[in-house]
Amino acid sequence: MTTSPEPKSENKERVLIFDTTLRDGEQCPGATMTFEEKMEVADFLDEMGVDIIEAGFPIASEGDFEAVSAIAGRVKNATVAGLARAGDKDIDRAGEAVGKAVKPRIHTFISTSPVHMKFKLKKEPDEVLDLVTRSVTRARNLVNDVEWSAEDATRTEHDFLCRCVEAAINAGATTINIPDTVGYTVPEEYFALIAMLRERVPNADKAIFSAHCHDDLGMAVANSLAGIRAGIRQVECTVNGIGERAGNAALEEIVMAIATRGDVLPYETGVNAKMLSRASRLVSAVTNFPVQYNKAIVGRNAFAHESGIHQDGMLKHTQTYEIMTPESVGVSKTSLVMGKHSGRAAFRTKLKDLGYDLGENQLEDAFTRFKALADRKKHVYDEDIEALVDQGIAHMHDRTKVVALTVIAGTMGPQTATLTLDMDGDHKTVQAAGNGPVDATFNAIKELMPHNGTLALYQVHAVTQGTDAQAEVSVRLEDEAGRTVTGRGADTDTLVASARAYVAAVNKLMVKREKTTQAQAAI
Ligand code: KIV
Ligand code: ZN
Repeated sequence: MTTSPEPKSENKERVLIFDTTLRDGEQCPGATMTFEEKMEVADFLDEMGVDIIEAGFPIASEGDFEAVSAIAGRVKNATVAGLARAGDKDIDRAGEAVGKAVKPRIHTFISTSPVHMKFKLKKEPDEVLDLVTRSVTRARNLVNDVEWSAEDATRTEHDFLCRCVEAAINAGATTINIPDTVGYTVPEEYFALIAMLRERVPNADKAIFSAHCHDDLGMAVANSLAGIRAGIRQVECTVNGIGERAGNAALEEIVMAIATRGDVLPYETGVNAKMLSRASRLVSAVTNFPVQYNKAIVGRNAFAHESGIHQDGMLKHTQTYEIMTPESVGVSKTSLVMGKHSGRAAFRTKLKDLGYDLGENQLEDAFTRFKALADRKKHVYDEDIEALVDQGIAHMHDRTKVVALTVIAGTMGPQTATLTLDMDGDHKTVQAAGNGPVDATFNAIKELMPHNGTLALYQVHAVTQGTDAQAEVSVRLEDEAGRTVTGRGADTDTLVASARAYVAAVNKLMVKREKTTQAQAAI
């Protein structure tokens, strides 16, 4: 039995990790990232050792193009991919966006299933087959590394899929991606599909096969692993499994399944697993998308043992209930860390232990907020510091920020909030009443930041135990077009945390609206 990650070995086959957090992940409802946030995530992914970063969909908007192009210009190790449909304009734009990359890739796709071809593309199979050859040929004239995807491959007729894959490889595709676009397949079926393609397509040995599985039935990771056993050597995945609808295969689960179960999955990845926890927190912070408590590998309960029987077993021998150590994915044990007398040097060391590498300005800002927190809170735990730094990262580029909030609450009513916001450098103050202190606070924000989003979720949880614990608040807004965004805020004062979360959500709503307007103009 293997109970800790296998050591890297020369004779294990490498599975390439293709991260699409910045493309498929960013497409997920509620998860918009700003330009700066995308840069930060791309740098982190590169440092963590992913092989390919899908940086975006360059034709979708000017913003997407600029982000892909900037990522191409800064990533040092990974291949940078840009997504394109089969049309000439898409492919040329993707080629232009990834042009500066040390290792550029164009990822082009077209639907191959009967339902997609008939109703979405309104094209006959022969026309689609022709487009496969044309699109890959055009992409290969721009870059040497071309990936072709058969959208909705798992619902495609096998004979037709074989013809498309063969045509794509003949035209120069070096990676063939077989997406389970609608999260419909099951592991045995996906295994058989990949095995069938590798056996029947005459030139199959000239390309790397790739899995791209969605999680609609909760099987994205299981299907990807089945694909690996059938010969796939690239897995497309996202941090925290974010992505369209139920999301994509979770990167951390793929990496740790391979690392932990070397006995049945004799492969390796280039990802530094000790950075997984931090990657999860970063992506959660910049998307404002909370991580489910019991999420495998990176959920806050993933290594918590509550029941007496489990705790007893753990005390006797950790391997009784732990198949991998928290440290192997970068989770440090909760500890009482610092207080108001701790200095800058200790704080810097603590951040390093927690896996943060902040620039001088970010560090100074975090230290000031740590001191303010330590003044109000007796015990400052690791989780408090993580929440504080993550909030700093999440709100660093927000155009509007909470400066001050005073609330009158209690039984005597009316509850009122006096709020000051920093809006692009200008301080604006307003007073509003409401049905309770949260309502009054949100009404004050609405007066200063008018918008037509409706509140779809308001959630509060405590970062640590105790009545002086920081509250972490999530606010989700939905606008008239069905666009959703999530904002988060943390503070020992629940109302201040609520105001921060609401302001963050409105900031995101504005970014999203700008992006959609640009995208509509471009497509
Ligand atoms: O899910 C899917 O099919 C995709 C393709 C564009 C690869 O995201
Ligand atoms: Zn997808």
